[in-house]
Amino acid sequence: MSHRIAILAGDGIGKEVMPEGVRALEAAAKRFGIELELEPFDFASCDYYLEHGQMLPDDWHATLSQFDAIFYGAIGWPDKVPDHISLWGSLLKFRREFDQYVNLRPCRLLPGIKSPLADREPGDIDFYVVRENTEGEYSSVGGTMFEGTDREVVIQETVMTRHGVDRVLKYAFDLAATRPRKKLTSATKSNGIAITMPWWDKRVAAMGQHYPDVNVDQFHIDILTANFVLHPDWFDVVVASNLFGDILSDLGPACTGTIGVAPSANINPEGTFPSLFEPVHGSAPDIAGKHIANPIGQIWSGAMMLEHLGYKEAADAIVAAFEAVLAEGDTRVLTPDLRGSGSTQALGQAIAERIAAG
Ligand code: NAD
Ligand code: IPM
Ligand code: MN
Repeated sequence: MSHRIAILAGDGIGKEVMPEGVRALEAAAKRFGIELELEPFDFASCDYYLEHGQMLPDDWHATLSQFDAIFYGAIGWPDKVPDHISLWGSLLKFRREFDQYVNLRPCRLLPGIKSPLADREPGDIDFYVVRENTEGEYSSVGGTMFEGTDREVVIQETVMTRHGVDRVLKYAFDLAATRPRKKLTSATKSNGIAITMPWWDKRVAAMGQHYPDVNVDQFHIDILTANFVLHPDWFDVVVASNLFGDILSDLGPACTGTIGVAPSANINPEGTFPSLFEPVHGSAPDIAGKHIANPIGQIWSGAMMLEHLGYKEAADAIVAAFEAVLAEGDTRVLTPDLRGSGSTQALGQAIAERIAAG
C-alpha cells in the first residue's frame, strides 16, 4: 500500500530542514520497503501570501484531505506578513479544521548533547508534553471596543469544552498508562484563573477515576516551569491547555540543549482527517539562509509520522540513526546549536547514511 504525504516546507529554515526530513524519510522507506508518494506544495508560506493575498488556495481542505499525512516545516516571516495572519491563515487552521486535537511533543535528552542543566544525563529528561490543540486560550472569541480611543478595550476569551478537554485528557492518560512510570502531571493555574482552571482540574480528576494505575499530580504553571528546570526527572506525561502546552514544549526541549531537535505530531486520533507532523521550532529568521539550522526536529517529526502510519520499526531506525550520529559527536557534522561547525545538509546527510546502513 502506498501512502500519500503532502509536503509543506513553509518559510525560513522550514525550507532548509524540510529537504533533510525528506531525505531521512526516503532512506527509511527504501530500507523498509515502504511506498511513500511525497507531493510538495508552495502554499502555506508567506511567499504564497505575498503573491496570492491569502495563505492557502480556496480548495486547500479538499486537496489536503486526500493525503494520509502532512509533513510540515515552519511558517512565519514577520517582517513581511504579520504572524497572526500567516499562522491563523495556515497552521492554526489545519489544527482546527482537521481536528488535530492532540499535539504530542516528546522531550528527551539525547546522547551526546549537553543539557544546560548541570549534571543531567540522558534518561534524566524523558517525557511527553500532550498539548490541547484546538481550543483553550487560542480562541477567536472576543474583539476590540472603542478602538483608537483612550477607552480602548480588548477581550479574548478562553474557550474550554467538556468534549474538547476530555478527549485530550483521555489521550494523555492512555499514553501515561503505557509508560513504565505511569505518571501524569497536569498543568493548572486554578489559583489565579479561577473559572476555567478549577474546572480543568475537575475534568482531570474525573478522567483519573478511569485510570487507577496512573499516578496523577498537578502543578500551577508558574512552579511547573521552575520544576522543568530544577527537577525534569519528575515528569513522564505532562498534559496542558493550548497555551500552557505551547510554553512547556519550548522550555522542555531547551532543557535538553536545543529546541532544534524537538518534534511534534498534531494528531487527529480518529483518522477522519490527516494528521500533521512538524518540528516544534519556527522559521528562525535570525539564522535563515545560513544553512546552519538543526534538521533533527524535522527528521524526528518524520519518524513520528512513519510510526503514525504503522511503521514503528522504520521510525525507530530513524531515531537510532540520529542518536548514533549525535553520540559520535563529530563537530564537523553537528550544527552550531549542538556546538559543531557543520551545516544542515551535512548533518542531514550523515543521518540519512546511517539510516540506509542500518
Ligand atoms: P523560532 O523557533 O523560529 O526561533 C527561536 C530561536 O531558536 C531562534 O534564535 C532560532 O535561530 C533558534 N532555532 C529555531 N529552530 C532552530 C533549529 N532548527 N536549529 C537551530 N536553531 C534554531 O521562534 P521565533 O523566533 O519566536 O519565531 C520566528 C517565526 O516562526 C515567527 O514568524 C513565528 O510566528 C514562527 N513560528 C512558527 C512555528 C511553526 O510554524 N510551527 C513555530 C514557532 C514559531
Ligand atoms: C507552535 C507554535 C505555534 C503555536 C505558533 C506559530 C502559532 O509556537 O507550534 O508551538 O503557538 O502553536
Ligand atoms: Mn510554540
